[in-house]
Amino acid sequence: MRTRAALQAALGEQNPRPGLVPTLGALHAGHQALIRQAAAANERVVVSVFLNPTQFTNPEDLSRYPRNLERDVALAVEVGADLIYAPAVAEMYPAGDATTVHVAGLTDRWEGAARPGHFAGVATVVTKVLNHVRPARAYFGEKDFQQLVVIRRLHADLVLPGEIVACRTVRDADGLALSSRNAHLSPTERRQAATLWRALFRMRTAVDEGVTDVDALLAAGEKVLLAEPAVRLDYLAVVDPVTLDPLELLRPGARAFIAATVGGTRLIDNVELGDGSKQRSD
Ligand code: PAJ
Repeated sequence: MRTRAALQAALGEQNPRPGLVPTLGALHAGHQALIRQAAAANERVVVSVFLNPTQFTNPEDLSRYPRNLERDVALAVEVGADLIYAPAVAEMYPAGDATTVHVAGLTDRWEGAARPGHFAGVATVVTKVLNHVRPARAYFGEKDFQQLVVIRRLHADLVLPGEIVACRTVRDADGLALSSRNAHLSPTERRQAATLWRALFRMRTAVDEGVTDVDALLAAGEKVLLAEPAVRLDYLAVVDPVTLDPLELLRPGARAFIAATVGGTRLIDNVELGDGSKQRSD
């Protein structure tokens, strides 16, 4: 469906309302896990494929983003998508548009500090797509944890329809979180990139072994990163899962956040710390 009118005609009375998986395209097994989860809980699943220009703060990042709608449709349908919503930019941003959704506070740090304006673009487009589709449930990955927290906030604040559902991070065999950006890594960089997960895994293991001091946890993670100088660290932090404030003392649900650049590619990842029984497969 290329337009909101076509989407609404296809959805009909919307009873029951569909599940929604919003994406930028360039689908991979991480997106497919979200679509599967949506298909298991909803009679119909809409996957939106919209390369949202307003959330790209680096024009080169936008221009080199892989685009292949035919492939995305095949990968989405394969795992249970019923409708693909792939609107044109003008459908999402009508001529003369002047409205932006800004989530204060939560968007100031971590990815928000590294990419000013990024989360305003995300918050604005997610508000729009939730309004276009009006899903019963919308699915987002924990891979982009700050994004998930920002979306939960705007969803509650603007009293948007449906429920926000979080999905676990899908990883390659060596732990690297799947991401469309991984395609930019050379084979050497791809090997080096697994260091991000090794650092997080080390921190999680330390917590399972009883370490609760955040400085000691950060030191354990940094030690792993120092062994791979090709990985340039932007931030490594232990944060509160709701406020995203850095923590001095570990508390339930705390997450380790990492952002680093490998070659020319910026990568992010995160993991829950504590209650190891729940997370061994993450
Ligand atoms: P995109 O990067 O295409 O990701 C779409 C959804 O897939 C997001 O909710 C993201 O967290 C999730 N995802 C990506 N990699 C994943 C992985 N390895 N495991 C589990 N889930 C994963 O995030 C965006 O698009 C955009 O910002 C969007 C929300 C669509 C707004 O434009």
